[in-house]
Amino acid sequence: MRTIEWNDIENCIEIIDQTRIPLKLEKTFCKTIDSLLNAIKSLKIRGAPALGAAGGLGIALSAFQYGGEDREEMLGAMISDAKRIKDVRPTAVNLSWGVNRVLEKVLKNRRFDCICKLENQRFSNATTLSEESIEDIRRFALEEAERICEEDVKINRMIGENGAKLLDDGDIILTHCNAGRLACVDWGTALGVVRSAVEMGKAIKVFACETRPLNQGGRITTWELMKDGIDVTLIADSSSGIVMRNKMVDKVIVGADRIVKDGVFNKIGTYTHSVLAKENKIPFYVAAPYSTFDLERTGREIIIEERCADELRKFGKTYIAPKNVKVFNPAFDFTPIENITSIITEKGVLDPGEI
Ligand code: MRU
Repeated sequence: MRTIEWNDIENCIEIIDQTRIPLKLEKTFCKTIDSLLNAIKSLKIRGAPALGAAGGLGIALSAFQYGGEDREEMLGAMISDAKRIKDVRPTAVNLSWGVNRVLEKVLKNRRFDCICKLENQRFSNATTLSEESIEDIRRFALEEAERICEEDVKINRMIGENGAKLLDDGDIILTHCNAGRLACVDWGTALGVVRSAVEMGKAIKVFACETRPLNQGGRITTWELMKDGIDVTLIADSSSGIVMRNKMVDKVIVGADRIVKDGVFNKIGTYTHSVLAKENKIPFYVAAPYSTFDLERTGREIIIEERCADELRKFGKTYIAPKNVKVFNPAFDFTPIENITSIITEKGVLDPGEI
């Protein structure tokens, strides 16, 4: 089953609602750009590669949503939707990557004389030179977005195969957050490596860190692995020290939201695990596709998304902290390149020096 795909009957995006897992496996529809923005913000759809697909399909949705007959106006609406989608979650680069890839394809196909200022996330000076219909534009956008989805599954399989060679029979892996099927269109990056190793016949066990405050590890990683019959043990984020120091872990594998020149952004808490892994001489691997690389930038240039205070003050509907306590709730942190053993990609395993 796919985490995200286009629904041809309703002409909308269909996603697995990740906020319902593990209680329910439920699909939901994004029929408007507003509902897509809401799904991304509330983490119904989440994880870098899945966000790349959401960005691409979002541009197709924008094209299908346009109700007029003026191609210039249609393009203007798509460009403004592109900006809204990219702004919802600024740290995971795949979201902008997916949006830009589909928008650029449409602009190129239409032979727009287009100045693409991706830096400013702005497309301007569009002048029509060809006669493609509104239906053609919709088709171009949807074909490219669906190509992103198809490629994602293949790429994750390749990451899995490359990474699985690094795992030994009997290894115990620590992972953080969810970099599995549900974070991608299918298979997964960090968990894709585990899945591929198991498929090769290796006995692999996993420690899943719960990943406060939204518990993607506790809710989603454990659920995914148990469903596949892979041995998984849930630990509190703060237990990663004891399991590493007591040699209960052979390797750490995490996903990535953005890989820059000098390090990797991933779910808050990843940096802490990397320091502990280094201290305890445990290999620390990052598994990610090339679409997560942003090698023009350094860590200092990237905005770290800060999320709402109630994610920490409340558990469900109940306050577990004073209602008015000050909160700092970054969604991601930065792991410097020197803490990383290798980066597992679809094209092979990279030494940090190769970045
Ligand atoms: O806030 P989230 O749940 O979108 O954060 C996700 C992560 O940090 C994942 O580890 C990352 O996107 C890699 S997913 C293959």
